[in-house]
Amino acid sequence: MGIAIISPGRDASIWVENIKKIDNNIEVQVFPDLKDTERVKAVMLWQHPKGILDKFPNLELICSMGAGVDHILSDDSIPDHLPITRIVDKKLTFSMTNYVLMGILNYHRQTDRYKRDQKLKIWDMSYPEIPIVVGIMGVGELGGDVIKKLQYLGIEVVGLGFAPKVDTTYPYYEKSKLDEFLSQINVLVCMLPLTPDTEGVLNKELFRKCNKGTYLINVARGSHLVEEDLIPAIEDGYISGALLDVFRNEPLPEGHIFWEREEIDITPHIASVTNPDAAAPQIIENYNRMLNKRPLLNQIDKAKGY
Ligand code: GLV
Repeated sequence: MGIAIISPGRDASIWVENIKKIDNNIEVQVFPDLKDTERVKAVMLWQHPKGILDKFPNLELICSMGAGVDHILSDDSIPDHLPITRIVDKKLTFSMTNYVLMGILNYHRQTDRYKRDQKLKIWDMSYPEIPIVVGIMGVGELGGDVIKKLQYLGIEVVGLGFAPKVDTTYPYYEKSKLDEFLSQINVLVCMLPLTPDTEGVLNKELFRKCNKGTYLINVARGSHLVEEDLIPAIEDGYISGALLDVFRNEPLPEGHIFWEREEIDITPHIASVTNPDAAAPQIIENYNRMLNKRPLLNQIDKAKGY
């Protein structure tokens, strides 16, 4: 009995190596070379072809190969009874937090402006910092860490989430208080899980409620942003610029307007990339827990979608 890795377009060999290092006896099959699908008890998924899990009659566990599970939950053919786990990893959190801090500090300390000034040999000491109050949408594992580190730096921060939360060390707003949340801030960071509730949350109505000149960072999923609403929001002055790591279609198509805009900085979904060294042990731990009928680690709540 064993595991199948289904991550089309990605090199699975490093995952296989890491699994074998932990337990050489685990059978590992890699998509598209799936032969004995009835022997598979657990699947590891990243952007799998929808419906493919029908091929595994003895499946007992689904593991996301990343922090997000939206790529799994969007497959309606997945049987309800199967547990789904995700990766929670210190390195993943470390990278995500550092990326977001980089984006916030670059905005706050106007890196682009001084790069331009240097090119033109301009010495301009006026207004060296943009005062900021940061709003983090999504205050879970990743968002929570960003908040903690911003607080450490002494940067004012507030959070917004889709569930009630008490005893936070920062002002917390539930979704129904979105307007109030937006009125406090001028840097907006999206770190929400992608669920039917959060899809398209960064849209023109939201942008219109932002303080003029709000800076946007999206490190969650491309589908959180209604992409066609961003340029008008920039042109109307609600949004001053954006740092985007995720896009509705990835790779970002060559003809996409975002490539052309100097207010928009683009990175290719690298804010935080799962590290198989750290993630494979978690998956094997859960595989063994599943075989021994013990509680799983980092199992998601399907009703919530994360
Ligand atoms: C990356 O986007 C992940 O979900 O791990």
